[in-house]
Amino acid sequence: MARTVGIGITGGIASYKIADLVSRLKKEDLEVIVIMTESATKFITPLTFKTLSGREVATDLWSDSLEWKVQHIGIAEQLDLLVIAPATANFIGKMAHGIADDLLSTVVLANTAPVLVVPAMNTNMYQNQIVQENIQRLKDINYKVMEPDSGLLACGVTGEGRLPAVDDIYQVIMNILNPQHDLKGKKIMVNAGTTCEDIDPVRFIANRASGKMGFCIAQNAARRGAEVILVCGNSSAEVPPGVKVIPVWSAEEMCQVMLEHQDSCDAIIGAAAVGDFKLADTKEQKLKKADNREDKLLLELVGTPDILQELGKRKKPSQITVGFAAETENVLENAKKKLSSKNLDFIVANDVTKEGAGFGTDTNIVTFINRSGDIVSLPKMSKDEVAARILDQVIELMNRLQ
Ligand code: C5P
Repeated sequence: MARTVGIGITGGIASYKIADLVSRLKKEDLEVIVIMTESATKFITPLTFKTLSGREVATDLWSDSLEWKVQHIGIAEQLDLLVIAPATANFIGKMAHGIADDLLSTVVLANTAPVLVVPAMNTNMYQNQIVQENIQRLKDINYKVMEPDSGLLACGVTGEGRLPAVDDIYQVIMNILNPQHDLKGKKIMVNAGTTCEDIDPVRFIANRASGKMGFCIAQNAARRGAEVILVCGNSSAEVPPGVKVIPVWSAEEMCQVMLEHQDSCDAIIGAAAVGDFKLADTKEQKLKKADNREDKLLLELVGTPDILQELGKRKKPSQITVGFAAETENVLENAKKKLSSKNLDFIVANDVTKEGAGFGTDTNIVTFINRSGDIVSLPKMSKDEVAARILDQVIELMNRLQ
């Protein structure tokens, strides 16, 4: 079930940056309920957040809500996390003293989920003893309070008090929501998308992969605390946050990048659709269109490196490698052959002809086969869920190696 994050926005100039945060949280399949104080609405309109969060923005304690009988209680009951960002000195003071005189402050009191407070204000205000004491009170009751950044503030002062980077707030939120940090300290390299082989300066050969499966794996691994390198070919999907992306074009380039990083990785997962052929001779100039439709153009193709096989040859005993076998026939048989030829620890096989599996879809139907010959067939599930299962399996294998 999608988890729900309340984003409480109070009246600071940094409130405009929260639009980006809300947009990123929505991409994580989270429900986001935005609650704004009246001052916040002077800086940025509720419409912005309504559009980004896909639901009404709560601003008024007294307005009738279609969704909840008692609005502040209804909102609070739904939350898995409440974030106050930016948190002004005034609002921090209200929270520290139990004042409940508007919608957001009443939600804070009715809320039982974890609370993350992200202060942002002028340096002198932030360093004021009263504000510091209030922040301490919040920490004492287990609210998590982020340190503001230092830099040039909107008021012209240079110092402490700037809202931390949205990236950092996002990471803290994801860490609170995903306490499962079973990949912490591990480095994982994933490849995704399709490689492309140039025919001439404007045309290339590629395949249908969307990159979604690999992106889900990378995102899932990052959420679980891993350091993730995503070696990414061409893809129409949005690159996940929190991972180091190395864009590549051809199979050879992808292979070279992965070989360079291989030694530092604990696990490597090959989800990219790597092209098996490239042109023997890429044309320097754009090929001209044939005058006659009957004319044939013959392109000579030669093989590309098999990346997983190359990695397999150099693999350390402590390293886990996982591949995919997207098949249209004899799925298990073909997958087993690949498992051994690529020296993999396990392979994720799928029949791409099945509805709900393979290219471009949001779901997949896969079977895991490991070196001992164990076969586990999973029902149709989201690619995100498949990614989580693959990583569970990687962790199990890592634990066996220890
Ligand atoms: O051999 P085949 O292409 O069917 O195997 C699929 C698996 O091998 C995928 O994990 C894919 O990323 C990887 N692969 C590769 N290098 C290639 C072709 C496929 O690493 N040249």
